[in-house]
Amino acid sequence: TERSLVLVKPDGFKRGLSGEVLRRVEAKGYTLVALSIFVPDQDRLALHYAEHEGKPFYEPLVDFMSSGPVTAAVIEGERCIEGFRALAGATDPTAALPGTIRGDLGRDWGLKVQQNIVHGSDSPESAKREIEIWFPGLA
Ligand code: GTP
Ligand code: MG
Repeated sequence: TERSLVLVKPDGFKRGLSGEVLRRVEAKGYTLVALSIFVPDQDRLALHYAEHEGKPFYEPLVDFMSSGPVTAAVIEGERCIEGFRALAGATDPTAALPGTIRGDLGRDWGLKVQQNIVHGSDSPESAKREIEIWFPGLA
């Protein structure tokens, strides 16, 4: 079975959507195996977003992600990495299909970074890497 890292980003946390996101995860049939709420520091975010370093949205992204609490979760279930990406919807919340978390609950706010409510790992390799960053020792 597979594990994935899910984050309710500061926009989602601030809007009180942590429960709604976790509800959808559990309704889909995935299990919560770890859960934590805290303000991520820049060092952790630099590790998490290493692949985006140098891109124009990198600094606004790290600033945004460290602007308030996030709800971090590790979820478990067969093909939950792909499954949560499907629940989340497309990166751009304006284009994300209705029925998805971003499509139902998100939109563009005219800011420098896409505030799109959630993060989900995109491959088994990134899930392992990200779980080690957010929940050391768990993967
Ligand atoms: P995550 O689940 O958050 O990783 O989203 P993703 O996998 O759909 O997107 P990706 O990993 O490519 O980018 C990480 C985050 O950077 C996104 O969720 C957005 O918040 C932001 N981002 C990515 N691409 C762009 C972009 O082209 N413009 C802006 N403004 N923000 C972006
Ligand atoms: Mg990503």
